[in-house]
Amino acid sequence: MLKKQNIDWDSLGFGVYPTRSMWTSSSNSNGDWKNGKLIPYGNIEISPASGVLNYGQGIFEGMKAHHSAKDRGVLFRPDMNAKRISRSCKRLCMPEIPEDYFMNAILEVARDNIDFIPPYSKGGLYIRPVVWGTAPTLGVAPASEYTFMIYTAPVGPYFKDGIKPLNLIASQSYHRAAPKGIGNAKAIGNYSSTLLPVKEAKAAGFDEVLYLKADNEKLVEEVGSANIFMLRGEQLVTPRLTGSILDGVTRDSVLKLAQDKLGLEIKEEDLLLEDLFKSDEVFCTGTAVVITPVGCITYNNKPYKIKDGKMGPVASEIRRLLVSIQLEEEEDTFGWIHSI
Ligand code: COI
Repeated sequence: MLKKQNIDWDSLGFGVYPTRSMWTSSSNSNGDWKNGKLIPYGNIEISPASGVLNYGQGIFEGMKAHHSAKDRGVLFRPDMNAKRISRSCKRLCMPEIPEDYFMNAILEVARDNIDFIPPYSKGGLYIRPVVWGTAPTLGVAPASEYTFMIYTAPVGPYFKDGIKPLNLIASQSYHRAAPKGIGNAKAIGNYSSTLLPVKEAKAAGFDEVLYLKADNEKLVEEVGSANIFMLRGEQLVTPRLTGSILDGVTRDSVLKLAQDKLGLEIKEEDLLLEDLFKSDEVFCTGTAVVITPVGCITYNNKPYKIKDGKMGPVASEIRRLLVSIQLEEEEDTFGWIHSI
């Protein structure tokens, strides 16, 4: 039996929750990562002139540890996060993190906080690795020193209504990322640019924003906190990775599950917004949102209901398959599960 903290697991949402410890390490600009260790969870000191505070030189990752049906703590495809964190570091001119160094750090922090993993089927322990430029830099230049930190938080559903279909607005006022910019890196700046659009969308009664491509507003990009999919007959379509879209771990897993387990034809292509309106199902995917259906998309002040506005059978089945692999209820034929 895994030991548990005394937490009201049923009321967890997606928020900060102090745990026992966090991981920290530092590096010069050559990637000589050192001083890796667990420290008590808490605030840190940082120069007001640090690269991250002044020029947004920072990236992050997101992954979840679950208490599985086999009564053990498990991670889902941590190798994907390990590879992506280095790609993101490279794009932000920060030292890459060797995959085994990343894995060791994740395992140390997950093991030390194992009693914060919610009980089986009550949520997950969200693991948040962050890398940033620590050293002061007044001129716009890469910092000379970096911090790699990992903290955790037990979480429940990302959206307050769980998997109730989302009411999205396709934004005509904002783009999320520019072509040839940093949209495909998990850069902190990609998320700060969504704060105002999401605030305005929520004030107008929407749940989230659907971003269109900056170089062709007929095409769909992503939701900011998630990737987007559309079902058209037997085809499951998601925008192709053009450089401004995040290559989500859940996105990749859904493509594989849809093809291998459901026999759907999968397509990564330019996705027209107007095709979403006529589609059979729309849903978003991400570590935080898992698989959340989309019930309605408003564009140009006109709401377009997706089918009957309810979660469709394919989204339901893919969610069931994904979650049952993550919780080790179903055999992991892909080799995605990593024991803590
Ligand atoms: C995740 O799904 O883990 C993400 O990184 C999205 C986040 C902005 C909540």
